[in-house]
Amino acid sequence: MDTRELADLAIDIAREAGELARRRRGEGVAIAATKSALADIVTEADREVELLIRDRIATARPDDGFLGEESGAERGASGLTWVVDPIDGTVNYAYGIPHYAVSIAVVEGEPDPQAWDALVGVVYSPAVDELFQARAGEGAWLAAHRLQVLEPTDAGALLATGFGYDPATHAGDLARLGRIMPVARDIRRAGAASLDLAYVAAGRLDGYVERGLQPWDHAAGALLVREAGGEVTGMPGERPGRTMTIAASPALHSRLAERVFHES
Ligand code: IPD
Ligand code: CA
Repeated sequence: MDTRELADLAIDIAREAGELARRRRGEGVAIAATKSALADIVTEADREVELLIRDRIATARPDDGFLGEESGAERGASGLTWVVDPIDGTVNYAYGIPHYAVSIAVVEGEPDPQAWDALVGVVYSPAVDELFQARAGEGAWLAAHRLQVLEPTDAGALLATGFGYDPATHAGDLARLGRIMPVARDIRRAGAASLDLAYVAAGRLDGYVERGLQPWDHAAGALLVREAGGEVTGMPGERPGRTMTIAASPALHSRLAERVFHES
């Protein structure tokens, strides 16, 4: 399948959506509701941006399915599904921290991260106007620059992680962080999983480990990492998912996985 047209559409929509998010941020942000936990918020802008994306996809590709963070899932007839996080990094967004992104992936097959094959991934950071994109088999790119994951230097790996919204998971997250710390030169908790993955692809981070991601958090970013020569997995033998996501160069990935899964 020629994925160029799909990628062009995803890029156009991500740019338009990102521009809307940036404009709404400038006008002031209202929390619309809390979701899974008190810390898990949704703003009016998240909903508005997702509606815009959904509307554009439905107009251009009425047979495709949709899986979005704010408005749910709808199966399509074409075998393709658009997996969308309208604003990844919502807490940053609500606090006025400009590290947030629109994440759009087009996947083929069952709309389940354990089963799908990602064809296109786009992560757009409107505050700095950076658009990361990948097509299966065609590499990952930031503008005209082809992305390549890096190996850490002797100083150790610059790692990123995140913490779920559910306080009950924090002790486990911190214990895991303690186990990977010996590999790290330093840790970042920047607040937007799609950008953590895009930054691994771009060599701005050496690796990334997080439990608790939703499909729309990693769908586009995981393709970016793979197309930049990296490895992204979940639990042993699985693809990235709710229970674990580990992304890095193949060599660092196996060192991280060993520490993540060997608890003593
Ligand atoms: C969150 C961010 C965050 C990650 C959370 C995600 P949201 O997505 O990606 O970095 O740690 O697990 O839920 O809620 O901002 O779209
Ligand atoms: Ca979101």
